[in-house]
Amino acid sequence: MKFFIDTANLDEIREAYDMGVLDGVTTNPSLMAKEGITGDAKIKAHYKAICDIVDNNVSAEVIATDYETMLKEGRELAAIDDKIVVKVPMIKDGIKAIKQFSSEGIRTNCTLVFSAGQALLAAKAGASYVSPFIGRLDDISTDGLSLIEDIIRIYDNYAYETEVLAASVRHTMHLLECANMGADVATCPLKVITALLKHPLTDSGLAQFLADHKKGNQ
Ligand code: E4P
Repeated sequence: MKFFIDTANLDEIREAYDMGVLDGVTTNPSLMAKEGITGDAKIKAHYKAICDIVDNNVSAEVIATDYETMLKEGRELAAIDDKIVVKVPMIKDGIKAIKQFSSEGIRTNCTLVFSAGQALLAAKAGASYVSPFIGRLDDISTDGLSLIEDIIRIYDNYAYETEVLAASVRHTMHLLECANMGADVATCPLKVITALLKHPLTDSGLAQFLADHKKGNQ
């Protein structure tokens, strides 16, 4: 399973990358705004800075919602670095743009996916990744994880190459359930990745080992 970090914060990206477990980064316009990154030049420079930290897979989202402008923005984003994956919203012009990007060899991440039907369209258009948002479905009392299960089954039925990128992952159980189901990728905040480290028996066991070592080596 690939781990992507869902942030535009360079320190958090560096921390996750330094752990040696990071396979990519997802950003969105809200995450960029949270870091105070505004204006075309600064936004592009920030994407480049992210690409300089990680090995691959940096999702950069288009802002346009019409086909022609999406193509222009997406091509500009893809030109920043080979590691860029152009993130495109699940709307009709977005699907058309994904199809075109795919024919140009530009990788895409179809975002804001909330149903299996949307995921099927993304795969047919040739998206590299599809991003179903688990947490936001849970927020409206709908089972986000069962959507992941449905999409994996549908993609398996037809051997679609689009990778299932579980997004809006809010806690470790989301991530582990996605791993159990065989999701290709999970994107989540740094705190979810570091929470995987934690177990009270690890902490107490390590404290005991160190205490016993100290006693025997005084
Ligand atoms: C995915 O690419 C999105 O950036 C993200 O996972 C959304 O998560 P949120 O619902 O916690 O904002």
